[in-house]
Amino acid sequence: MGTQDAATVVDHPLVQHKLTLMRRKDTSTAEFRELLKEISLLLAYEVTRDLKLTEVEIETPLAVMRAPRLEGKKLVLISILRAGNGLLEGMLDLIPSARVGHIGLYRDPETLEPVEYYFKVPEDLGDREVIVVDPMLATGNSAMAALERIKRAGATNVKYVCLLAAPEGIEALAGAHPDVPIYTAAIDRKLNGHGYIVPGLGDAGDRLYGTK
Ligand code: URA
Repeated sequence: MGTQDAATVVDHPLVQHKLTLMRRKDTSTAEFRELLKEISLLLAYEVTRDLKLTEVEIETPLAVMRAPRLEGKKLVLISILRAGNGLLEGMLDLIPSARVGHIGLYRDPETLEPVEYYFKVPEDLGDREVIVVDPMLATGNSAMAALERIKRAGATNVKYVCLLAAPEGIEALAGAHPDVPIYTAAIDRKLNGHGYIVPGLGDAGDRLYGTK
């Protein structure tokens, strides 16, 4: 399976245009944050496309009718800290009643391996659809560790949403978690020797919060 087959690329023109603005090195922190929020709204629209509906009876000012409503329990959005919060914000605008979890993983700069420092998610993960968000799918190490931890906590129905992915990350993630659909706005060329996506957009956390 190629990387294109292993991930859904959200190629909507608005997403692609906003992503181009985000990539530019001169884009300010404020603009970057706003653009990520706008794109995450559009990614949320795409990733929730197959949510199940049920019919309920309602009354409009003119008539009684049966109308569709989302079925089942509320979604859970899980942000991989800290850059995941940038995606989370826009998604919550679209799905305000979603439950929210956080997982803190940092990348050891030497080994590029993920180290967990925080984990807080809703208790009944097994009954809910879970959407894990992190803007950059680079080596896939953090994503794989996060998904493993989230599944250990009971999640069985999980999707993964990022903004940018490296082919290496998609291959690793799809190999380790073939049951988890991956959504991204673009698949870039490669990873560099420091685990950064090229051409990418740099460090998403730093660009989002102005820490460098
Ligand atoms: N994390 C980032 O923020 N950027 C990359 O390019 C890779 C990982």
